[in-house]
Amino acid sequence: MIENTSLLSKQITHGVYVISVANGSEQNAFTAAWVMQVSFAPPMIAFSINPEHYSYKLLQASGECTVNVLGQDHLAIAAHFGSSGVREKMTTYRWQSGKTIAPVLSDSLAYFDCKLSHTTDAGDHKIAVCEVIAAAELNSGWPLLYWQTGNMDGSSNLNKR
Ligand SMILES: Cc1cc2nc3c(=O)[nH]c(=O)nc-3n(C[C@H](O)[C@H](O)[C@H](O)COP(=O)(O)O)c2cc1C
Repeated sequence: MIENTSLLSKQITHGVYVISVANGSEQNAFTAAWVMQVSFAPPMIAFSINPEHYSYKLLQASGECTVNVLGQDHLAIAAHFGSSGVREKMTTYRWQSGKTIAPVLSDSLAYFDCKLSHTTDAGDHKIAVCEVIAAAELNSGWPLLYWQTGNMDGSSNLNKR
């Protein structure tokens, strides 16, 4: 096993996203960097999610989510949805309806409405493979990059174990 896991995290290039989920009247969202396109036809996105996240429970229950793309001005949004134990996590930002039960973040650069195809195990995470059923650009700007978030996710601390 490699010693320096933060090297892995920061040298592999990622964007930064807020993945929103819902089930019935419950809504939630979490910041994610481990996101990528995995198919053209049908269009598919995969992301890696810690199964202990509250968002994972809602994703499993409804089978739907929205991947919202963050921009350069969205560090505070990344921090907000990347923190656990935030009370009333969804009330601070504006949301709109898309084609799934999951809400769309109105400030995002673009969004992808997704139906969960399947999940598969990946160490301490699950890979969620999703079909994109709708997408749109909402605002102009450059995407936020994962390395610009510094140690916001605490990944540097993992080396100290
Ligand atoms: C920049 C950044 C990137 C993150 N990337 C991921 C990721 O790809 N997958 C994941 O499961 N958690 C990721 N996280 C952690 C979750 O966003 C965080 O644990 C969140 O509090 C989970 O929310 P929930 O428990 O309300 O669902 C990231 C956090 C930050 C700050």
